[in-house]
Amino acid sequence: MAIRFDEKRKIFFLNTKNTEYQIKINDIGMVLHTYYGASVDQADMSYMIKEIDRGFSGNPYECKNQRGISADTLPQEYSSDGAGDYRVSALSAVMANGSRTTDLRYKAHNIISGRENPTGLPYVRQENDKVDTLKLVMEDAISGLLVTLHYQVFADKDIISRYTEIKNASDAEIIINKAASMSMDFCGRNMDLIHFHGRHAMERIPERETVGHNIHRIASKRGTSSHQNNPFVILCDKNTDEWHGDSYGFMLMYSGEHAEEIEKDQAGSIRVVSGISDDHFSWKLSPGDVFETPEVILAYTNKGLSELSYLYHRIIRENVCPKEFRDIKRPVLINNWEGTYFDFDDKKIMEIAKSAADAGCEMFVLDDGWFGERNHDHAGLGDWVVNEKKLEGGMSKIADYVNSLGMKFGLWFEPEMVNEDSDLYRAHPDWALTDPDRKPVMGRDQLVLDMSRKDVVDYLYDSISTVLRSANISYVKWDFNRSCANVFSHDLPSDKQGEVLHRFMLGTYDLMQRLRDSFPHIMIEGCSGGGGRFDAGIMFYSPQIWCSDNTEAINRLIIQKGTSYGYPVSTMGSHVSASPNHQSGREVPFMTRALVAMSGTFGYELDPRKLSDADRSMIRKQIDTFNKYYELIQKGRYYRLSDEATESYFTSWGFVSEDKSEALVTLVVTDVRANPEIIYVKMRGLDESATYELDGILSSIETSPDDAFFESSNKIGNKYGGAALVNGGFAFDPMFGVYPAIQLHFKRV
Ligand code: DGJ
Repeated sequence: MAIRFDEKRKIFFLNTKNTEYQIKINDIGMVLHTYYGASVDQADMSYMIKEIDRGFSGNPYECKNQRGISADTLPQEYSSDGAGDYRVSALSAVMANGSRTTDLRYKAHNIISGRENPTGLPYVRQENDKVDTLKLVMEDAISGLLVTLHYQVFADKDIISRYTEIKNASDAEIIINKAASMSMDFCGRNMDLIHFHGRHAMERIPERETVGHNIHRIASKRGTSSHQNNPFVILCDKNTDEWHGDSYGFMLMYSGEHAEEIEKDQAGSIRVVSGISDDHFSWKLSPGDVFETPEVILAYTNKGLSELSYLYHRIIRENVCPKEFRDIKRPVLINNWEGTYFDFDDKKIMEIAKSAADAGCEMFVLDDGWFGERNHDHAGLGDWVVNEKKLEGGMSKIADYVNSLGMKFGLWFEPEMVNEDSDLYRAHPDWALTDPDRKPVMGRDQLVLDMSRKDVVDYLYDSISTVLRSANISYVKWDFNRSCANVFSHDLPSDKQGEVLHRFMLGTYDLMQRLRDSFPHIMIEGCSGGGGRFDAGIMFYSPQIWCSDNTEAINRLIIQKGTSYGYPVSTMGSHVSASPNHQSGREVPFMTRALVAMSGTFGYELDPRKLSDADRSMIRKQIDTFNKYYELIQKGRYYRLSDEATESYFTSWGFVSEDKSEALVTLVVTDVRANPEIIYVKMRGLDESATYELDGILSSIETSPDDAFFESSNKIGNKYGGAALVNGGFAFDPMFGVYPAIQLHFKRV
């Protein structure tokens, strides 16, 4: 068992291979967080807590003469509101008599083998891992509120996941105004916070800041996890870098509104609270009702940020994403969106498909515009019926043709949306989230369907399933193209309107699960205008997510790098698109675009008929290279090898197979200079006692300018010691021209 309760000292020990988590119950039943970090061999870490009398930090009545005992200063395992803890709380409730005090104390616990799952929500699957669970029950004896903290310990993977169950065990109604998934207090630490901010087409940009004496709040109130603030944060020591130092990750498995609050308190301790945002949330708990929160994935390492990323990459790939798509080779796809937008018919689609098949693509994805009156983005959403005026012969004709070319066929949907100009909206205006008597806020001229309603989810299941059954479809792109506003359900009474957004997420997850159950062979690629719902919640249903609507390779470097802190390359949808790029106008060589897109799920998003012969002829080579290194890219260890802060003119990253027998390194020079400095990149994760041979080079440039007076020394067949590549680094040849890039493959000899 990875969990032990020391009855005498009232301490819970949760141990993974390299980490330890401790919880202690004090003499008055307060549940205290005493430690999370590297293994300490079950030493009682409660000595870290100093019970100091701090002015204005009050004391529970039974300790009124022990002034060091205060909810405001002791590290809490699940913080609540109203009983003298003035820091950000995880739980806030209003009792039937209007009281806002919740004072949680230990009631019981249970340690079980295996795990329970939060109902209707994504979770970390047990799969082939040994998992032990602690269920720790806390009670507010006065109101009858029961809070059960669930801890799932994935010992071999150095992961602990948490979620919380809140039950009204009284005979009166209780309103929950905040129900975070977890909170955790770190005694007296100086830490940095790394979070991932952004905007549409520029998602998950890493930002590192000192945790000062204020409340840092990373949150979304858009109804989705959002482009703007990803529900993943890292806390690390001031001196932590990629390779050294304490790092803690908190990843919420949720696709709706969220908040990660980090507060450094008056005494220098740091609290982290993560869960559903309380901005638009309230939940009515009638007697006997239970509310379950989303799950948070916790990881800790003292080996720096690279190792932290590895822990997340492995758990997401192996225990979060649907296992059907874990080990199979996913097809290199071509998507018609940037190639045609809405301007297509069956003839054009078939021509593009033929040209893509000839070039070596493995799946054709028909994007937006194939249904209803969807000839532009003002109409049709909700009417999931093939537009036979555009696609004569229906979907099966296109799918059969694509299949006959040896490619799979995929289709775009945007299930949770409706246009005013649609048959669905005309028949059911009350199915949209709109405020009565108010004109709705529009986003891309569309409204959001009320996924909290069963009739809406049933309609979507039926209409989408009908299309999926009508043709040989292997893939669905599931889009979501606006933020929510006017969140009001015409189906719920006024005192339940605070529940709409979470019920919305439960409805979405239910639809995804029902479609997964009915069509287990169909792979769903998540999307929300690119990466607006790029989170571990969606990944439970969808092994890959369109990373960003920005397909421009140089912008993509930071987007994909930022994404890599928490999420594996196997989840990052990444395509080669046309040049000049449609989002930035920048021109980037075809091979550089491909080398960047290869560090993702790889595909093309352009009209191959419009490519130059030279570019088109490169596609097959690119696909062959990607397929050759597929296992290494999708399952190898990923390393960020450059630091833009100090090396602002290039970006480098690499993959090393688990057995260290091969490695792949890519370099993109983003700012080419005359008479350049030599770029040295220290490789990571290699077998330092082995010798590696350079056996594959793919480059955007074949030659250097004539006047470079330089002959390449990076040649196929060169041999390098593993220790040399790690400690000295690889010395890249100078590269000239526009955004040059090179990919090198090394194999152990
Ligand atoms: C936004 C997506 O991210 C794009 O790839 C494309 O599918 C459009 N929506 C279609 O409307």
